[in-house]
Amino acid sequence: MGTSRMFRIFVVLGSAFMILLIIIYWDDVGASHLYLHTPVSPGPKILHPPPQQRPQTSRTPSFLSDIDAFVNQFLEPGTGEPTDPALTDTSNQSEKAEERYIPRREWKIHLTPVAAELRERQEQRRRLLQEMCANDSVVFPGKNRSFDDIPNKELDHLIVDDRHGIIYCYVPKVACSNWKRIMIVLSESLLQDGVPQRDPLAIHRDLVHNSSMHFTFNKFWKRYGKFARHLMKVKLKKYTKFLFVRDPFVRLISAYRNKFELQNEDFYRRFAQVMLRRYANQPTPPASVDEAFAVGIHPSFSHFIQYLLDPQTEKDMPFNEHWRQVYRLCHPCQIQYDFVGHLETAEEDAEHLLRQLRVDNVVEFPTSHRNLTASSWESDWFSTVPVEARRELYKLYEPDFRLFGYDRPDSLLNE
Ligand SMILES: *[C@@H]1O[C@H](CO)[C@@H](O)[C@H](O)[C@H]1NC(C)=O
Ligand SMILES: *[C@@H]1O[C@H](CO)[C@@H](O)[C@H](O)[C@H]1NC(C)=O
Ligand SMILES: *[C@@H]1O[C@H](CO)[C@@H](O)[C@H](O)[C@H]1NC(C)=O
Ligand SMILES: *[C@@H]1O[C@H](CO)[C@@H](O)[C@H](O)[C@H]1NC(C)=O
Ligand SMILES: *[C@@H]1O[C@H](CO)[C@@H](O)[C@H](O)[C@H]1NC(C)=O
Repeated sequence: MGTSRMFRIFVVLGSAFMILLIIIYWDDVGASHLYLHTPVSPGPKILHPPPQQRPQTSRTPSFLSDIDAFVNQFLEPGTGEPTDPALTDTSNQSEKAEERYIPRREWKIHLTPVAAELRERQEQRRRLLQEMCANDSVVFPGKNRSFDDIPNKELDHLIVDDRHGIIYCYVPKVACSNWKRIMIVLSESLLQDGVPQRDPLAIHRDLVHNSSMHFTFNKFWKRYGKFARHLMKVKLKKYTKFLFVRDPFVRLISAYRNKFELQNEDFYRRFAQVMLRRYANQPTPPASVDEAFAVGIHPSFSHFIQYLLDPQTEKDMPFNEHWRQVYRLCHPCQIQYDFVGHLETAEEDAEHLLRQLRVDNVVEFPTSHRNLTASSWESDWFSTVPVEARRELYKLYEPDFRLFGYDRPDSLLNE
């Protein structure tokens, strides 16, 4: 008697609970069950319903991600999802909100899927990262630590866009200005006459690199206090994370050309003077970059390499970000990147990435007309650097070579 009655109560309560669940989730489930959530949509998107409510980066089934989205609405009001148009319409900011959100509701229709070759390329790069992180023959400082052990200040290269659910780790000298511009456009943090700036190229250089334009992980402390780490982890799990890399030696050449062959007062005072004093027998180098260039003095590429190899350099301060190793900037063994772009294939990768992020209707990657430092110049540049120094330099950057699949430059190292 007692048990059957208990059973009936359970059935009734259970049904009531199910009905409640169905009522709560009906809209979400009904709307999103029609298509599969995969980071790279394999088929023509024409069959899918147009609106994209939130970035679908997780590989969980859609029902679970809907619950996530539902929970997120309570956790973080105002971040993440574009507001439902029906809701914004009722407030009087509706017009402005409407204007701002319309572009994201449009769906760029692609008649062709992302080329299999491009998807395979990403698959390979991600797999390589995993293998190298697991391979004990690849050793570098900080490799084994957990995400929690990474000091806050080392997370300053991770730019977060909550609007689209994107995290970008910027690596200086790897098209980072243009990707920062895109992050500014996407986050709509720059207003031009009251409306968000949409044209990446219209954003001035100084603004692009002004850290106040970007919401980076190291700023989470200010905003979220003791919840910061937890939130970072939630975002790292849900958002699409990407970075762009290039051949490490070519990146160094590019950094040298940009910072020491061009007149740059800041870099002259902070670094060039040190190099001239230490390696060029110039106990009193010219006081300003203008004077130095006027008399034709600047550190050579070989001095720059000497500076990188000098143990004193990192004792004074960590490498400047323009030559700091990518593994130190982006923590590829703690953060599972969804997309690894290479500068050598920048245009294809950019198009693929913007499509994967589902923002290719909002921004285009600015095509660069600048003369990129080419890897074919490598042997010329390194001709003044002793082979022994080249080998040491390779050791210093070897993790970057291996993690991102760049071949050991044998011709430089085996002379
Ligand atoms: C909304 O704002 C507009 C001006 O932007 C104003 O003309 C209109 O009366 C407002 N509507 C409501 C319902 O407050
Ligand atoms: C680790 O890398 C070395 C090459 O340095 C390779 O020979 C070895 O097979 C790798 N180990 C694993 C488990 O992949
Ligand atoms: C990381 O851990 C592996 C074993 O799991 C160990 O062989 C290796 O020496 C450690 N590396 C560092 C840098 O601590
Ligand atoms: C960055 O921007 C902020 C405000 O927009 C400004 O106060 C600051 O001076 C800028 N910093 C630099 C280095 O330009
Ligand atoms: C690019 O570099 C090549 C080789 O140094 C040079 O011949 C060419 O004029 C450069 N182009 C531009 C636009 O600077």
